Amino acid sequence: MAGIKLPPAEDTADLPQQPRTPVTGDLISDDDRSVAADSWSIKSEYGSTLDDEQRHADATEALAAANLRPSSDYSSDKDSEKDAEDGDGIASMLGLQSYWDATYTDELQNFREHGHAGEIWFGPEVMDTVVSWTKSLCIDIYRRRLLNYTGDDKTEHDNHAVHDLSSWSVLDLGTGNGVLLQELAKHGFSDLTGVDYSEGAINLARGLAERDGFKNIAFSVDDVLDTKLDRQFQLVMDKGTLDAIGLHPDGPIKRLMYWDSVAKLVAPGGILVVTSCNSTKDELVQEVDRFNQRSTVQPESQDGQTSAPFQYIDHIRSYPTFMFGGVEGSRVATAAFLRN
Ligand SMILES: C[S@@+](CC[C@H](N)C(=O)[O-])C[C@H]1O[C@@H](n2cnc3c(N)ncnc32)[C@H](O)[C@@H]1O
Repeated sequence: MAGIKLPPAEDTADLPQQPRTPVTGDLISDDDRSVAADSWSIKSEYGSTLDDEQRHADATEALAAANLRPSSDYSSDKDSEKDAEDGDGIASMLGLQSYWDATYTDELQNFREHGHAGEIWFGPEVMDTVVSWTKSLCIDIYRRRLLNYTGDDKTEHDNHAVHDLSSWSVLDLGTGNGVLLQELAKHGFSDLTGVDYSEGAINLARGLAERDGFKNIAFSVDDVLDTKLDRQFQLVMDKGTLDAIGLHPDGPIKRLMYWDSVAKLVAPGGILVVTSCNSTKDELVQEVDRFNQRSTVQPESQDGQTSAPFQYIDHIRSYPTFMFGGVEGSRVATAAFLRN
């Protein structure tokens, strides 16, 4: 991965804030957390061995509970691996490619030997919710654009709203086993691409897609932070990848790189849908606001329009929530942003 130098001290205000203990950690004690986790499991695992199950349970808990520490310098993955082992343990390990390579080596073997699909991060309920909500959002956007359509044949356009999904180019960042893309395909999307920096993930995703009859989904090995993709997409999905990136020992810097990169990947007028268990919806919106402030070009035109890259549109409100200490929280947040 390409290295960058830390920005000068005065720029550090732009760094994403160190994620405070995530929402669940704020709201519940360890004991309460296990009760909440019992009532609504954050992850689902499709057929790993028991050892794997325990490892993934630990990893998911770490993904949800990790507290980042500030980075003093950008370091190589080798240094970071040592830091992660010395310091934050599995939480930081989840930010390292070596962790994911090892995970997908196991999952690929499980797939080849037993046909198991591997992990659906945050569970199938969340995935289903994300997919149907995203589909409605796309249809809604299409219809709203129709309101600005000046041609005669509005009815025909309206009828096409659902079918129009096939014209949305979709990119899934950090696709893992690629099952999210399979679900999007079942809902009518057909121009689908998944990337992951782990070759094992891409081999698993390809194997599953081929087995399950989704031969049209394109998969490639690509690092989101140093992407080789040379096209833009109208819909960009991220489920758990920004979380993983933020868990790198240089997480705050990596998150800055993430937004720079994603802003190039989402086509103007396109949308980004981020699902996280490590940031609340408000924290995602604040992070995007900080990125906007960093990136906004002052208007030269007379209409006074600024060109902030992203604009918050909506978030999923239907995730199961629980109350603790008079505060309501949910374990996962999904927010959508429009690329201006
Ligand atoms: C928590 S898993 C989520 C996998 C998948 N999105 C899902 O929801 O099942 C995070 C994924 O992000 C990938 N990943 C992490 N950092 C990445 C990067 N910089 N570029 C590409 N993929 C990355 C990991 O290999 C892993 O597959």
